[in-house]
Amino acid sequence: MSKQVVQSRLTVPEIRARKGKQKIVCLTAYTAPIAAILDPIVDLLLVGDSLGMVIHGLPSTVGVTLEMMILHGQAVMRGSQHALVVVDLPFGSYEESPVQAFRSATEIMAKTGCQAVKIEAFEGVDATIAFLTQRGIPVMGHVGLRPQAVNVDGGFRAKGRTVGERDRVIAEAQAAEQAGAFAIVVEGVAPDLADEITAMVKIPTIGIGASPQCDGQILVTDDMVGLFDWTPKFVRRYGKLRHEIEKAATGYADDVRRGEFPAAAEMYYLKRV
Ligand code: KIV
Repeated sequence: MSKQVVQSRLTVPEIRARKGKQKIVCLTAYTAPIAAILDPIVDLLLVGDSLGMVIHGLPSTVGVTLEMMILHGQAVMRGSQHALVVVDLPFGSYEESPVQAFRSATEIMAKTGCQAVKIEAFEGVDATIAFLTQRGIPVMGHVGLRPQAVNVDGGFRAKGRTVGERDRVIAEAQAAEQAGAFAIVVEGVAPDLADEITAMVKIPTIGIGASPQCDGQILVTDDMVGLFDWTPKFVRRYGKLRHEIEKAATGYADDVRRGEFPAAAEMYYLKRV
């Protein structure tokens, strides 16, 4: 008989029940070691399609594939045992029809073991969210700035700054809730709009570049730890990892060039038997 690994992950209903009671702490993770570091600290790990830009150096999330999401989702599941793990459905894997979204979501869930998927708002998203949730797939919505719409929008731009746009973001959030989403990411909108949505919907809002009044917050971990010189204005850097990596690599390079690495204790010798 195989030994069972005991896991007690936070569940979708537990996250949903925190609305208005306890803030929900979320970060992105794409690899097993980073997931293992973050897992005891956060409530929710998002395997975001931002991994296309952060890990793979793509110019946007548009080039991210289902296979990439599955590979990174598997790694994050291996590295974590406490947090709820949500995996993004990538561009082109869900917009065609609810059936296409169902196939993509079930493949991701079956191959990674993640507990939920996230999809960005688009015309008709409510039918897709309803189709998935009625068939056992928890869905997190994503409204406001939608990175997968970068080519339509002409860049990554804050949303809800005109009356028309504001109404659209509110309608997207309401549609996601009514269709059965268990939470909504609200990205790149003015604080009063995020607050209005948070007060309006009965499911948790997770803010990014939005408002502290949201029910939870999320950041891209690599931005938050200071891996990049440039980050969007809404990122607060809690570390200087880029500097630390540069310092470590420079120290290593200097030692190698001086012939001081490896030292005696860092080598193997013949055993005396
Ligand atoms: O892809 C991602 O990492 C995201 C978060 C930034 C919300 O969607």
